[in-house]
Amino acid sequence: MQILITAERIQQRLDELAVEIKQHYQGQPLTIVGVLTGCLMFLADLVRRLDMPIRLALVQASSYRGAVTRPGELRVRTDLLPDLRGRHVLLLDDILDTGRTLVPLVEQLRAMEPASLRVGVLLHKEGRQELPLKPDYCGFHIPDLFVIGYGLDYNDEYRQLPYVAVLPMPSSSTDLA
Ligand code: XMP
Repeated sequence: MQILITAERIQQRLDELAVEIKQHYQGQPLTIVGVLTGCLMFLADLVRRLDMPIRLALVQASSYRGAVTRPGELRVRTDLLPDLRGRHVLLLDDILDTGRTLVPLVEQLRAMEPASLRVGVLLHKEGRQELPLKPDYCGFHIPDLFVIGYGLDYNDEYRQLPYVAVLPMPSSSTDLA
């Protein structure tokens, strides 16, 4: 498996992001909203570096590709969320790819009237974005590759890897075997 970002580089980058976040909020209470499930490692490692008042919340966003719904239609479960009105909110996700997950999610959270809303992603995949969004915090820019590890999955596997790796694609000879 080709490691794209080592565990050490991820942890170093989280140190830097934590400094940026603390500098911005200056000790003001912050609600961090993680997007299930890919955010889990990123969220857990980042919040342990934030010595400031923090509340944690989770939101589930999934794309339905069934016969009834349109391809890629996003379903968001906001019932897991606390009242965000008047709170400073930081939305965290594993990866910004096309933006089809985060952009509608940002709109939904904005409708809940937070005092402020910022977005942080561990990874930003280059050259794939369809909807406009510039994350306030970004761990790494990566090329257009399918990556796994550190929360990111393939068929719900590999999330527990401490690094980000490129998913090995079977060669055509393997396909035929
Ligand atoms: P969009 O396109 O909505 O993508 O910005 C966000 C969601 O798509 C998944 N995704 C990936 N998952 N490796 C993964 O394991 C990848 O390279 C990848 N690219 C996109 C992921 O669920 C993310 O939240």
